[in-house]
Amino acid sequence: MWDYEKRLQYPVNIKNPNAKLAQYIISQYGGPDGEIGASLRYLSQRFASPYREVSALLTDIGTEELAHFEMVGTIVHQLTRNLSMEEIEKSGFGPYYIDHTVGVWPQAAGGIPFNACEFQSKGDIITDLFEDMAAEQKARTTYDNILRVVDDPDVADAIRFLRQREVVHFQRFGEGLRRVQEDLDPKNFYQFNPGFDRCMK
Ligand SMILES: [Fe+2]
Repeated sequence: MWDYEKRLQYPVNIKNPNAKLAQYIISQYGGPDGEIGASLRYLSQRFASPYREVSALLTDIGTEELAHFEMVGTIVHQLTRNLSMEEIEKSGFGPYYIDHTVGVWPQAAGGIPFNACEFQSKGDIITDLFEDMAAEQKARTTYDNILRVVDDPDVADAIRFLRQREVVHFQRFGEGLRRVQEDLDPKNFYQFNPGFDRCMK
């Protein structure tokens, strides 16, 4: 079960609406490398993990991703409140507005709705942890792309925080993977170390 704390993990205080930016940033709400996919990935994978520490790591990071999902939703909301109809039309936000008004809905920047096929829960801890590390790098790249188009310091501040957390998660999953590999028979999986040849003999 979870306890809910009625505050954001990192404050979001955006003063100026910007519908164009909202359309980009919504990708981290419901896009292919977004926070809801990250959260569901880790919170689903943890059940089949044969290592309690790795299940705990997945629960921990999956929970934090929910807090990031909340932050991204808040960013999108603050960027789209108080928009004039003229701004909505000019910024290209019109099609989204027709379907959702200014409700926050999980979709990619390109308009594709969130889909659980964007992540896996494979029931194999090595497979899952490799996916998790790749997912963190993809999310980090998306935040890098977003930072290139953001000129509002209020938005950039929150996005930089989120980007940094992806780097930390990548490292923590790397530690989890090392923990699992230390425990397994090295003949059964590919290792990135020079001892690999010896193991195969
Ligand atoms: Fe993450």
